[in-house]
Parts: sequence; C-alpha cells; structure tokens
Amino acid sequence: MSFPLHRPRRLRRSAAMRRLVAETRLHPAELILPAFIKEGAAEPVPIASMPGVVQHTADSLKAAAAEAAELGLGGIMLFGVPTTRDAVGSAALDPDGVLNRAIRDVKAEVGDGLVVMSDLCLDEFTDHGHCGVLTAEGTVDNDATLEIYARMGVAQAEAGADVLGPSGMMDGQVRVIREALEGAGHHETAILAYAAKYSSAFYGPFRDAVDSQLTGDRKTYQMDAANRSEALLEVALDLEEGADMVMVKPAMSYLDIVRDVADMADVPVSAYQISGEYAMIEAAAAHGWIDRKASIVESVLSIRRAGADSVLTYWAAELGRWMKEGSL
Ligand code: PBG
Repeated sequence: MSFPLHRPRRLRRSAAMRRLVAETRLHPAELILPAFIKEGAAEPVPIASMPGVVQHTADSLKAAAAEAAELGLGGIMLFGVPTTRDAVGSAALDPDGVLNRAIRDVKAEVGDGLVVMSDLCLDEFTDHGHCGVLTAEGTVDNDATLEIYARMGVAQAEAGADVLGPSGMMDGQVRVIREALEGAGHHETAILAYAAKYSSAFYGPFRDAVDSQLTGDRKTYQMDAANRSEALLEVALDLEEGADMVMVKPAMSYLDIVRDVADMADVPVSAYQISGEYAMIEAAAAHGWIDRKASIVESVLSIRRAGADSVLTYWAAELGRWMKEGSL
C-alpha cells in the first residue's frame, strides 16, 4: 500500500498542534497604537467612519496611554487636531500647541514605560490640508517645508517624544530632521520614517479623524500604487539619511512591499494598518458579514507574516486585551 510520506494535515489536527507549529505569533510589544487628540475637547469625540476610535481629550489620551503601557504595547503614535490652522501650520511649532502639549502630557504619564511617538507632518496644521507649505502657484514646496519639519522635529523632541514619525513624503526630510536634532543636542531621539507611503484612497476615514481641510489629493508627494521598485529607492534614501526605522503604509494592499522592505532593510520595519483598513473590517463585521475578531487577528497576522516587525493598528489596545486575557 502506498501512502504519502508528508501529510501536512498531521500538524493541523488540534489547536494545540497548530499553536506548536505556528510560524508567526502576535505579541503586544509589536503593536503601536495611533491616537488622536483634539484641542479644547471637553469630551472624547467619536469618529463616525472609525467606530470605536475617538478624538481624545487631554485626560482620555492620558488614560489610553496608561492602558497601552499597562498592556505592554510597543508604543503610541500621537496625532494632534488643532483648533486654529494657517497657511504654514504655525501651531505645529508652538511648544503649547495641541500635539506638543500631548507629547509632554503622555510622556509625564508613562515615562519610559511606553515608547512615545509623534506624527511629524503639517497636514493637520495647515488651512489647506497639505503636508507642506505651498508655492505661489499652489504646489507643495519641498524645501520650504523641510525647514519647518526641522523645527517641528526639535519642538517634538523638546516636548519629550522618543520617536519622530515624519509622514509628509518630502524629499530629504529625514536628513534635515536628523541634522536639526543633532544640532539641538537631541542625539537620542529616534526617527521612524514613513519611507514608502502610498497615495491611498484608504486614508479616507483618517481625514475625518483629523478634521482634514484637504480638497485635492497628495499624488505629487505620496507614492503611486502602481510602483514597487520605487519603494526600495525611498527606503534606501531614508536609511542613507539616517532613519532608525522605516515604515510601509498602508499595509494590507501593500504586503508585497512590506516583504520587499523587510528583505532589504537592516533596521526594524513597521507597517501601518490604516484607517480605511480598520473601517472596512468594522463595517463588514457590523453587518454580520465577517467574524470581527477573527478578521482583525488574521489581518494583523498577515502583516507580521509579510515581514513587518511592528504594526501600527487602531486595534492595538483591543488586541493587547485579548492577549492579556488569553483569548487569542
Ligand atoms: C499624514 C498622515 C496620514 C495618515 C497618517 N499620517 C494621512 C494622509 O496621508 O492623508 C493616515 C493614517 C490612516 O489613514 O490611518 N500626516
């Protein structure tokens, strides 16, 4: 009688067996929680297109950060939603601006118990919603924007951020921020570069989350979804400019890029499971069309399997709670 020597199903027979042979596992330390703070909010403000996610008040943000630390998450990534905006995003440089104050508050709350990261970009702070300042013709001025990013980086480091996340996709941004940090004595502040950030329709709900003023698109600075090799160039440039970590964003439609970057980069690689990825799963689950928890776990696992060392996900705290209670 002939029989196959290899029967992969032997190793799938029981949950215990599958656990033994799992090649990828989720751990709270690999999850980073993106969090929004809204200037002047008296109560947390729900974000309609991201059920379960809010624009925090100063107090609710501190509580969320404390919980993230308690759960052993890898970090928290802060985004500010200011009440006043102008053409050059002045509030981003103000030490008392919403984001810089949030960094200070969160750092005071968690100390070294959680890595505190801040989004370094102007789109939340400009009245036109672009990630940089504009020329007279209305295009985004790369080099004029760099000067502001450099000062913004120093302001965030001064506020106590452990890691800066430049997300504006200006050429040369990592270098100018690194140089400015060195010049101001912030040698220990790290840079997580949004190195391969694609122009994506899936950012839609985020624009609600930050009350975005953008009317056009970001196609002149964010990457084109058609391109793969270009991502490797972007990552190589950011590494040369001094990035300590690099990110691919979005995650789910770009898992091939996550794999390519993981294979080529000798620094930790993150991937950002963005607002639209979150919204799609929440919406389908709310209709009863997919199993919410299983879909969340599978989606994050797939990003880790593709090669990301860490994942920014709006489910970070919930996943952390599931892991803590042993229900994963
Ligand atoms: C720009 C920024 C964006 C996101 C993070 N940083 C939006 C954009 O490029 O339009 C998107 C995050 C998400 O969709 O969850 N500061």
